[in-house]
Amino acid sequence: MKKSFLSILCILASLVATQAFASGDPEAGKAKVAVCAGCHGTDGNSMVPSFPKLAGLGEKYMTEQLRNIKSGERVILEMTGTLSFSSDQDLQDMAAYYDSQTRVISEASNIDLIGVSGPKEALAYGENIYRAGNMKTGVAACIGCHSPSGSGNNPAGYPALGGQYAGYIEKQLLGYRRGERTSGTNALIMRGVAANLSDKEIKAVANYIAGLN
Ligand code: HEC
Ligand code: HEC
Repeated sequence: MKKSFLSILCILASLVATQAFASGDPEAGKAKVAVCAGCHGTDGNSMVPSFPKLAGLGEKYMTEQLRNIKSGERVILEMTGTLSFSSDQDLQDMAAYYDSQTRVISEASNIDLIGVSGPKEALAYGENIYRAGNMKTGVAACIGCHSPSGSGNNPAGYPALGGQYAGYIEKQLLGYRRGERTSGTNALIMRGVAANLSDKEIKAVANYIAGLN
């Protein structure tokens, strides 16, 4: 008796989970992103580095972010009022549409890092953080959650990073480290990761991520 009650609960819980995260309609979403396109592009590849690319970002992650942005939990001044009249279904549809688009990969740049000999070495330094983290300071490897190619983990709600603008990635890591980006329970995970990243490591890993695919 107790056992069957439990298994019914499990089935119900998984139904709720799939409903909450897999019901966006990309076709319907396409018509709803007209208002976003000026900043994020019609295909989710924004032209301006301060506007993040949304193509292939991850439907579950994006839906969560849109909910946080709409509720004001994640404050994005540029998007003030943009979602005021969007229903939760609209948010899911827009996330499904942008997630279905193909990301155009940014490139890593020739950056100079203090104490690192040249641009090639700076890129390798960033790659090492991404793949191995920093054992000494307790930084977890990014690869474990964001995948070797940077495509993230959609079912878990871990965003795709590969090919994103470096400046945007850097800004987010600084925001987590300062405790300014706090929206949703998943932000806690990233605050823990970013807490021990140095400025130099952040710059290097963001640059590496821009060219990752
Ligand atoms: C006026 C420009 C502008 C418009 C219009 C706009 N956004 Fe944004 N959006 C931004 C900026 C800027 C950020 C990043 C802010 C930051 O640096 O944290 C952002 C962030 C986001 C993020 C978070 C991305 C991530 O990787 O976490 C999502 C999702 C998003 N926007 C979706 C939308 C959708 C959907 C629309 C249309 C309904 C829209 N935006 C309209 C400027 C805009
Ligand atoms: C244990 C899993 C985990 C590890 C390890 C991890 N991340 Fe994350 N990352 C997440 C989750 C979950 C989110 C979504 C957080 C949120 O909702 O704010 C995220 C979000 C991000 C974002 C914001 C993306 C966006 O589109 O706004 C960046 C940037 C990021 N991670 C970079 C990194 C880097 C760099 C590393 C390695 C130094 C790393 N992460 C390691 C789980 C992880």
